[in-house]
Amino acid sequence: MRISQKVQQFTESVIREMSRHAIELGAVNLAQGFPDFSAPEEIKAAAQQAIADDINQYSITWGARDFRRAIADSFARWQGIEIDPEREVAVCCGSTEAMIAALLGLADPGEEIIVFEPFYENYSPDVILSDTVMRYVTLHPPRSDSDDWTFDPAELRAAFSAKTRAIIINTPHNPTGKVFTREELELVRDLCVEFDALCITDEIYEHILYDGARHVSPATIDGMRDRTVTINSLSKTYSVTGWRVGWAIAPPELCTGIRKVHDFLTVGAAAPLQAAGVVALAMPPAYYAELSAHYTERRDLLLSALRTAGFQAWAPRGAYYIMTDISGFGAESDRAFAMQMVREFAIAAVPGSSFYRSGTGGSQQIRFTFWKKIETLERAAANLRAMSQALQAVARP
Ligand SMILES: Cc1ncc(COP(=O)(O)O)c(C=O)c1O
Repeated sequence: MRISQKVQQFTESVIREMSRHAIELGAVNLAQGFPDFSAPEEIKAAAQQAIADDINQYSITWGARDFRRAIADSFARWQGIEIDPEREVAVCCGSTEAMIAALLGLADPGEEIIVFEPFYENYSPDVILSDTVMRYVTLHPPRSDSDDWTFDPAELRAAFSAKTRAIIINTPHNPTGKVFTREELELVRDLCVEFDALCITDEIYEHILYDGARHVSPATIDGMRDRTVTINSLSKTYSVTGWRVGWAIAPPELCTGIRKVHDFLTVGAAAPLQAAGVVALAMPPAYYAELSAHYTERRDLLLSALRTAGFQAWAPRGAYYIMTDISGFGAESDRAFAMQMVREFAIAAVPGSSFYRSGTGGSQQIRFTFWKKIETLERAAANLRAMSQALQAVARP
């Protein structure tokens, strides 16, 4: 018995594995990005109503018409771009499916896909499954809280070639919290135009921003609209990660490729949840304004707890993760340290190496999420205090 050679090239998701350890060991789960608080009542009620109203059969494969219209309205509302919901939207089962459908639908075997490293771990299997080749551009940690992660423009240029099919941008970025600036995206635009490459952008954290950071959607950069695939989902903005409803926005010809793959991968996203998505996307401005305040409080709580416990913690500009450096603890590796934290101190987090290509980085990094209730984060802070005291006692025999 055997599994395919492609699948042998990647392992189970480390993020979801750490989440399972958290459940087994009763640890505070700061590993996987999902909330332990409720989704907004009006959105839940809309989903219940849709089922009661018998919206229970397949929707149009690339998305229910009114949901596609709501996605187009939301793109116009937040990004100022008018799109045709009949031809430029493919509703998928989460942004996860939108990303793999985009790669399968738009890239040929052997073509290259550029990512900034560290990167969200799903992109690596996506590239393997689509028979494309990943090229990497390093993100360097900030030197102070007023800086953001940066990249070397020369390294970015060197990653592009005649083989480049696309660059994946993820802004705000998981795991670093980087928010790409307009100037950085203009550099990306110049290279995409020069090398005739696409930009596939994962913007699922677009509304989760701190300290006045502004989200710039690559499709809004001059010259990018026709070469950009914008991926988003209900998961993060509306705290419904289990609904599995996301979408890709792309020019008609590219959208056709994504829709074709999507049709045969999953047929369609859950019909009643697409109906509830219409309500979610029409949430009032106050909802989005509160998101930032809500997460800023949580970010500051966890940032302070991590720093007090001895981590070097980089303040994120967006999303809800904190990337940390654990060099101060003298740990053998990120994985050993993460396992020790979950087993002995009841805190689950993600080893940094799962955001880097194998064996290249992150061996002294750990990522924590703060998408949790305040009391959960306070429990984590207490466990972190206990951990730092216990480790100091071992260091000073
Ligand atoms: C950058 C990024 N993209 C995509 C996803 C998955 O999103 P979805 O639930 O829409 O599939 C995640 C989840 O953590 C993520 O961090």
